[in-house]
Order: sequence, then C-alpha cells, then structure tokens
Amino acid sequence: MTYLNFPKNFLWGGATAANQLEGAYQEDGKGLSIADVLPQGKDRFTIVNQPDFNWTIDKSKYRYPNHQGIDHYHRFKEDIKLFSEMGFKCYRFSIAWSRIFPEGDEKTPNASGFKYDIEPVVTISHYEMPLHLVTKYGGWKNKRLIEFYKHFAETVLTRYFKQVKYWMTFNEINSAWAFPVMSQGLVANNGGNDKQTIFQAWHNQFVASAWAVKIGHALDPKLQVGCMLLYATTYSYDANPVDQLATLQQNQAFNFFCGDVQVRGEYPAYTDALMADNGFKFTDLDFSAEELTLLKNHPVDYIGFSYYMSAVVETVEKEHAEVGGNLLSGIKNPFLKASEWGWQIDPIGLRIAFNQLYERYRKPLFIVENGLGAVDKPDADGKIKDDYRIDYLKQHIEQMGAAIHDGVDLMGYTPWGCIDLVSASSGQMSKRYGFIYVDLDDAGQGSLNRYKKQSFNWYQRVIASNGTDLG
Ligand code: BG6
Repeated sequence: MTYLNFPKNFLWGGATAANQLEGAYQEDGKGLSIADVLPQGKDRFTIVNQPDFNWTIDKSKYRYPNHQGIDHYHRFKEDIKLFSEMGFKCYRFSIAWSRIFPEGDEKTPNASGFKYDIEPVVTISHYEMPLHLVTKYGGWKNKRLIEFYKHFAETVLTRYFKQVKYWMTFNEINSAWAFPVMSQGLVANNGGNDKQTIFQAWHNQFVASAWAVKIGHALDPKLQVGCMLLYATTYSYDANPVDQLATLQQNQAFNFFCGDVQVRGEYPAYTDALMADNGFKFTDLDFSAEELTLLKNHPVDYIGFSYYMSAVVETVEKEHAEVGGNLLSGIKNPFLKASEWGWQIDPIGLRIAFNQLYERYRKPLFIVENGLGAVDKPDADGKIKDDYRIDYLKQHIEQMGAAIHDGVDLMGYTPWGCIDLVSASSGQMSKRYGFIYVDLDDAGQGSLNRYKKQSFNWYQRVIASNGTDLG
C-alpha cells in the first residue's frame, strides 16, 4: 500500500549549512570558525584531536575546502532562484556564528554579517562556532559559552523573528556522543573529550537552547523553536535478549538522551545509569537548580531530525562485517544495501523512526536532513542522470507518507545538500547530495557553475503535486 496524503501546508524544501557552502571565510569581518581549521580528508577529526594540534591553518600540508565552500556567499541569489524554481516552500540554512560575532565573545555584532532575505528555517548553530571560543574557552564544556550563545541567539532572533517562524537551536546535538569536535569544540589539546566532558558540554548546550526557546517565545509566542537530532533507527542483530538490551541502551544513549531533555524539559529516568556506565555521576556535573527550572519551563516546540541510515547492535557474535555511517559506524545489516560511503540505506527505518519519536514525544516532527551522498558524473552532453538519488528519495518520501498514515504529525521535509556542498565528515566535494550540480572537484578546481541534475525536475514535480507524483 502506498499512502501519499501530505497535508496542504506541508513544508517541502531543502537544507544546507553555512560552513559547508558559503566560502568567503574571511570576508566582511567574519572570524575564523572551527570548520575553517578542519582539513580535508576522512581523518579530519583525528588530525584535530592530536594533542599537539595547534589550530593554525597550514595550507602547505592540508586543503581547507570550507574556505571556498561553493562560493554561495557571492552566488546566493542565483542559488535561491534555483530553489524557488524547484518550488521550495521552505529553505533550511544556518547562520554562521563567526560572521555575526567573529570571535563569539564580543558585545556588538559585526554589522555586515546580515545578508539574507528569504523565508527560511534557521539552524542557529550548525557545526560552526567561532574558533576563539574553542581556543580561549575550551568549547562547550565552559559555562561561559551559555552567555555567548544566548547573546548570539538573541541577536539573530530579534533581528529576524518577523520573517522567520521556524528555528532550530543546535544541529545534530547528539552527534557529540561520537564526534564532539564540530558541535562542542572539544579536542585533546583543550581539555579532552571524555564522556563526562561531553555530558557537561551537553548540559551547557541544553541550557543555552532553553534560553533561545525562552527568548524566541518572548518575542513572538507563535515562533517554533525546535531541537535537531541525528536519528539512526537501531536494530538488534538477532533476537538474543542480550542484544535487545544493548539496543535499548544504545537508543537511550544516542538517539534519545538529548531529545528527552530538550523535549520533555528534564533529565530522563535512565540518566544516573547511563552516567554510571560511563564512569561518573550526575552530581559530578556543574549545574544549578535555576538551570534545571529553565529546562523544565522552556522545552522545544518540535523535533527536527536527520535520517540517512539505520544501525545494528550486536554484542555476542563478533564475526559480522563492519560498515561506515553518519558519524556512527557499526555492523552490516544483511537485508540492506549501502551507499558508496557505506551508509546503510533503509527507507522503512525512517517510518520506524517517525513512529518511535512521535510515540515518545507527541510533538510535531520535521525531517530536516535526508539524502544520498554519491559520486555524480556528467555524461557526454553534460547531463547528470542521478536516477539512484531519485530512487533513494522516492522510497523515503513513500515512508513519510506511510508515517502520516500511522498518525504521525509531520511538518515538512528538507533533503540535505539540495545544492552540492562540502561534506561535513570528509571535506569532499565528490560526495554529492544535490539536485543542483556544482562544477567543483576535491582539489578545488572547477568553474563553480551550477547545473540542474535529473533529480531537479523530478523534485519540482514532487513538490508541485504535494508528494503524489513520485514518478
Ligand atoms: C549530517 C550533518 O550529519 O549529515 C551535515 O548535519 C552533513 O552537516 C550531512 O553534511 C551529511 O554528512 P556528510 O558527512 O556526507 O557531509
């Protein structure tokens, strides 16, 4: 059975993040951000985690693809025009913190940092924080970041609340479980990234996020301020209760912990157990009763989440093949195919994700990232026939329709990297997600010209038909 009854006001669109497409990394007073010092390569997180890593940019040794991005900073009008030609009802992007507050701890914003004039869904912080906050303050484990983020959030919310209804506070906040560099600014040489430090940083981010919700609602109670989670539907390898329990615990630790705090406004019942398993106690963290009250009084309005793949947990057997994944690697699922980067493609897992999240939280869901990272090769006529991407997206949209049939309240869909951009995990350009091809290679060579892929016209039809024509 196929169910494709999308609500009339369903938000079809696309998603990007400032640091992965803007480029212009030092223009108009922008400061350096953590993304600007991440070298290209699959080992980019290992490199920045070496104890002697000193945050300098060494162009003789590394490439820094975020410096140029896809030059969206200078071409945004052309790009937005293409999005509007596809019929986008919304566009999710992030505001570069280091463009508005170059070092992050200033009182006065950089006046030339404000540039956009579209109807957006805004991520306040997407894998980008001023580098100064990392080198001087040690990243999010430092409680002073709450006041700096609060000031940044207040600045952008106050500036844009009349034009922007939908906001998200931190991109994939739970991804710090695996890689705390991009979202928390924690690395070996600024105090380490052990689990207690990550949880302290999370607590500070939860408080900062609650401030953003409070400030947003004070400006306009109708503003919708959401959290943003990396969701990977997680299965047990088999029916062994030991694996089932491990799956439950992985779900608690990875998929649910941050959402439980941000949506329900309080730490979940399993908090003490989770922390004990990681060698510390809740009371080891630096927190106050006022902060807990703030969390309780200002939960998020909706749950934004990314979904690319599912994961498998297995504790008993150790002979199964390993695969890669979205900041999570794991065991190969014999029932699924994987992308060229080893991410296991699982449309039905998306329907399960919707049901799990909606049953748990009963708040509207917004799938703000989904897509297939693939190598696209223009043919002899320069056309990009990305039928594999269409196939991936079609199957996921069908499962979105099925989830609505299941009773889930789904606000919208913004596939990731609607225009090709720099990969977050590897800094590659060759890992493409877009409906729009950008002529730029991994070495930074290319005209930067934009071309419509086959999926461009397909997605245009999907939106025009409100999801009924997936043809
Ligand atoms: C998500 C991030 O993890 O996945 C994006 O929010 C990222 O920033 C996207 O780009 C795809 O991951 P990657 O590593 O293929 O760029």
